[in-house]
Amino acid sequence: MSTPGDFKIHATDGEARRATLTTAHGDIQTPIFMPVGTQGTVKSLTPLDLEEMDAQIILGNTYHLYLRPGDDLVARRGGLHKFANWKRPILTDSGGFQVFSLQEIRKLSEEGVEFRSYIDGSKHFFSPEKAIDIQKNLGSDIMMVLDECVGYGADKDYTNKSLEMTTRWAKRCRDHYPKGSGGQIMFGIVQGGFYKDLREKSLEQLREIDFEGFAIGGLSVGESTKEMYDILHHIAPKMPSDKPRYLMGVGTPLDLLEGVSAGVDMFDCVLPSRNARNGTLFTSQGKINIKRAEFAEDDSPLDPECGCYTCRNFTKAYLRHLYMAKELLSYRLNTYHNLYFYLDLMKQIRAAIENGTFAELKAKYEAAYAKG
Ligand code: GUN
Ligand code: ZN
Repeated sequence: MSTPGDFKIHATDGEARRATLTTAHGDIQTPIFMPVGTQGTVKSLTPLDLEEMDAQIILGNTYHLYLRPGDDLVARRGGLHKFANWKRPILTDSGGFQVFSLQEIRKLSEEGVEFRSYIDGSKHFFSPEKAIDIQKNLGSDIMMVLDECVGYGADKDYTNKSLEMTTRWAKRCRDHYPKGSGGQIMFGIVQGGFYKDLREKSLEQLREIDFEGFAIGGLSVGESTKEMYDILHHIAPKMPSDKPRYLMGVGTPLDLLEGVSAGVDMFDCVLPSRNARNGTLFTSQGKINIKRAEFAEDDSPLDPECGCYTCRNFTKAYLRHLYMAKELLSYRLNTYHNLYFYLDLMKQIRAAIENGTFAELKAKYEAAYAKG
C-alpha cells in the first residue's frame, strides 16, 4: 500500500528522473506538467477534455478561490474536486505569489500579508496558518506553504531577510498541518533570489522541516534565461533526491527540458493556455502565430505531428478565421492543442528518460525552437 507523498524513482538519465508520486486522488507519473486552473477551471476546457489529453493533475489558486466563490462555500460542496467535477489530483498554490504579483498595495509583517481584493478592493489578511486552512477547505492533494516571492533585482540584504521569514512561515504551515494528519501533502518553497549562497541557505533551512516535496520559487520574475538556468542548475540537484522537486511558474518547452535536465519533476505555467488565447501556438516545428496572413488559405493542420482533436480536424485557415473573428471556439481549440502539446512533450520526456535518450530529445527540441 502506498500513502500520499510516496515518491518512487524508476529510472534516471543524467540528473533527469522518471518517478511516481502518490496522492490521495491517485498516482502522478513524473516529470509532469500541470495545466493551470486558477479559478477551478482550465480556461475554455472541460474536465473531459483534460482527461482525454491525459492531464494527470491540475493547479488551482488559493488566492482566487478564497476571494471568489470563497473556500467555505467550496468546502460546503465537498471540496474543489467535487465542486469542479475533477477526479484526479489537484495542487493549490498558497496565495503568496499572487498577493505579491497582482498587488501593489500590500502590508507585509512577520504575522503574514495584508492585501486588497482584485475584485472589489476589500481588505484581507493571509497568515501562514490561514493559507493552509484555505487549502484544507479546498481539499487539494498538494498544498504549498505561504512564501514571499521577492522581485527581480531585490538586494541581498532584503532577499536574505525575506527567505528567513519564508522559512519561519514554512515551519508554521507544517506545524498547522503535521505530516500524515490527513490525506493532503505539503511542499516547502526554496527562495533566495539570484544569490546562490542564499538559495542554498533557504534549502538547508527548509530541509529541517519535514515536507513531502520541495519547490523552487522566485524564478521567471524578469531575469534572463541564462540567469534562470544558472540558479536552476545550481539548486535543483542539491534538493533532496528522494522527494519530488517542483519548479513553479515555468515555462517554455525549452525551459521544461532544461528543468528536467537539472532534476526537476513537476512544472506549471500559464504560458500554453494564455498564449493559446492570443493565437501563439506551440508545434513540433517551433512557435507560430495563427493570425499571420500567410495562414489565410493554408489548408494544412496546425501541427502534422500532433494527434490532438484540433490538429486532426481543422486547418490553419479555419483556425486563423476563428481567431480573427474572435470566436469562442478559437480559445477552446487553441488551448486544447497547446496543452496537448505540453502534455505530449512530458510524455516523450518520460519515455526518453526510461530509454536513456533524454539528451537526444532535448537537442531535437532545441533545434526546432532555436528561432525562439
Ligand atoms: N509561482 C511562481 N513562482 C512562485 C513563487 O515563488 N511562490 C509561489 N507560492 N508561487 C509561485
Ligand atoms: Zn494539436
